[in-house]
Amino acid sequence: MPIKFDRETKEFHLYNHALSYIIKTLYTGSVGQVYCGAPLAPRRTYSFLSLAASGGVLHPDKSVARFEYPAFGTGDYRTPAFALQLADGSTVTEPVYHSHTIYAGKPTIPGLPSLYAEHNEEADTLELKLFDELSGLYIILYYTIFADLPAIARHSRFVNEGKEPLVLRKAMSLSLDLPDNNWRMLSVSGAWAREFQIIESPLIPGLHSVKSGKGNSGHQQNPFVILKRPAADDSSGQALGFSLLYSGNFIAAVEGDCYSASRVQLGVNDETFSWKLEKGASFDTPEAVLVYSGNGLNHLSHVFHTLYQRRLARGIWRDRERPVLLNNWEGTYFNFTEQKLLAMASIAKELGVELFVLDDGWFGQRDNDASSLGDWFADTRKLPSGIAGLAEKITAMGLQFGLWIEPEMISKKSRLFEQHPDWAIGVPGRPRSEQRNQYALDMSRREIVDYIFTVISDIIASAPISYIKWDMNRSITEPFSLALAPDCQGEFFHRYILGVYDLYERLTRAFPHILFESCAGGGGRFDPGMLAFAPQGWISDNTDAVERLRIQSGASLVYPQSSWGSHVSAVPNHQTGRTTALSFRAMVAFFGVLGFELDPTTLSPQEKSQIAMYIEFYKTRRKTFQYGRLFRLAAPDSALFTAWQASSEEESLVGFYKLLAQPNRPPIRLRLADLEPDALYAVSLWEQGGFEEKDKSCNCGLRGGDELMQAGLLLDATSITKQGDFFGEIFIIKKVEEQTP
Ligand code: GLA
Repeated sequence: MPIKFDRETKEFHLYNHALSYIIKTLYTGSVGQVYCGAPLAPRRTYSFLSLAASGGVLHPDKSVARFEYPAFGTGDYRTPAFALQLADGSTVTEPVYHSHTIYAGKPTIPGLPSLYAEHNEEADTLELKLFDELSGLYIILYYTIFADLPAIARHSRFVNEGKEPLVLRKAMSLSLDLPDNNWRMLSVSGAWAREFQIIESPLIPGLHSVKSGKGNSGHQQNPFVILKRPAADDSSGQALGFSLLYSGNFIAAVEGDCYSASRVQLGVNDETFSWKLEKGASFDTPEAVLVYSGNGLNHLSHVFHTLYQRRLARGIWRDRERPVLLNNWEGTYFNFTEQKLLAMASIAKELGVELFVLDDGWFGQRDNDASSLGDWFADTRKLPSGIAGLAEKITAMGLQFGLWIEPEMISKKSRLFEQHPDWAIGVPGRPRSEQRNQYALDMSRREIVDYIFTVISDIIASAPISYIKWDMNRSITEPFSLALAPDCQGEFFHRYILGVYDLYERLTRAFPHILFESCAGGGGRFDPGMLAFAPQGWISDNTDAVERLRIQSGASLVYPQSSWGSHVSAVPNHQTGRTTALSFRAMVAFFGVLGFELDPTTLSPQEKSQIAMYIEFYKTRRKTFQYGRLFRLAAPDSALFTAWQASSEEESLVGFYKLLAQPNRPPIRLRLADLEPDALYAVSLWEQGGFEEKDKSCNCGLRGGDELMQAGLLLDATSITKQGDFFGEIFIIKKVEEQTP
């Protein structure tokens, strides 16, 4: 069992072949962090690592010690992992070790998404119970280590067994004290249509955080941070990744202290949180996942990808190849008729598309974004035979049918608002702020969630629908719930997300055959919490292929390519005005779940035949494109080129994307990954690019795995330059049997 407890040293060692995580009960009774990183032999004790001062005595300055779940008010002046207010107003706690249990398997968290183990042998769990006598508060720290992965899932449960109500003001999912600060922090930053831009910064003394206070995880930052050693890169070096399975207000913070140590914390953002714990009540934090890599960032990403693809996503779509779709949004926006949609669908079918998705504008009287959210019945002006009639016609063509919804929202101009103005979030007596001309519904209220469940279930049940795109086009303002007591308003944001998860849970259970795609104005709520319900998400409204290189590379730090939709759209691109070749757009979109977002009735015969060819190529390799191990071979911040590799048992596919042409550049050596050094590989070029014969001949043919990984593909800069800006190529690498000389 990879969790060992030593009675004598009171040390817990969670370990497998790739990771060790050691904590221990200190002589004071509080729990200390001992070690987290590369695997250490489980037979030894490492207690000596836990204290900054030797001799088993805690340094008089508690800020030197490394605590596992630090409390407030007794001398550790760094950021505490939790904050509690007792009935007398005091805020000091001293939780000490109470008991523990170790068992095979992994528990779930009530009301919240979490990783799971399909079999008990896959994971072991430690439940460590702490107790603060004066308040009667128990804190249970959960740790699950996966047998084959350098990953630990953590969360905390607070249980009030005291005599008085308590108020939780902060409750982190994970706190980790690292002994040094020789790390650089990676996070992503962005905005609408510019999500997932990688930011790297040094760790400096003081608090550095990414967070959201918007009610959704946000376009701006994403609930993860990565710490990497300064020299570490995609292919080598140590890194630790921390990701939160949560879709609401989060914080991921690193505090550098005056002793050059670092404290990492991840959890619900305490700026917008408090929770009243009545006598006997409990509160569970979301789950945080910690991953260690000693082999660079690509390896770190693969561990997250494996977990999120295989042990977070659920249902029949978890492992299934995802359909190639056509979404009508950029093709028509709100301006369509049934006839127009059928014309689009019929061409899409000819081209090889498998799923037709009807986006916004099909309900109420929605000719623009100023009305009708909440009125989830078909607009018969546009769709005379309703959703059912349209869906039947589309499915009769041999296509699947998908539909867009935005269930958490309400327009001021809607029947729903006329009937239930109080369902929109707002503070009585104050104006509500509109965003995109809409309000958000109070998802913390059970009756509202029940109502939406019924209405959306009715639509889905009324027609042959096999896909739902669930959007959320505004964040929360004026947070307040009419259903919460004045001293419980601090619970609003978390209860909103619990309501969203509840609705998702009920809809995915009721309609297990449906593929859900999450969306929030693109990537405004693209996070692991959503992936538990919707195995793919619309990562950005930006469909420009050049921008997508950066967005998809940033997302790939933590998220697998099966989790993002990636669409080919028309040029000039609607977000950037940029024109790129159809082949370039397709080659970028291949690395993800391929879709099209254009009006196929406007395509030329040549474009149609190109698209048909692209779709056919993608379909035969989609297992590798969607589920293969993804490697970032060249950084997207290089102005010159980006390259990705996706590898499966069958083959490796390498996408090379040159950005701006520059004359007289030296040749590029593109070193591949994940091949067997001793094996022989047949290298070929997908016959779509404009490479000259000599480039083909120098890279194509039989090549050794060692050679491809060490020397790489040689991309002749001169002939690439001649292709102009934004030029892409796809190489196909297949292992061949060794030939006897
Ligand atoms: C959001 C989504 C888009 C589209 C529109 C419809 O912006 O991200 O893909 O669905 O809403 O209004």
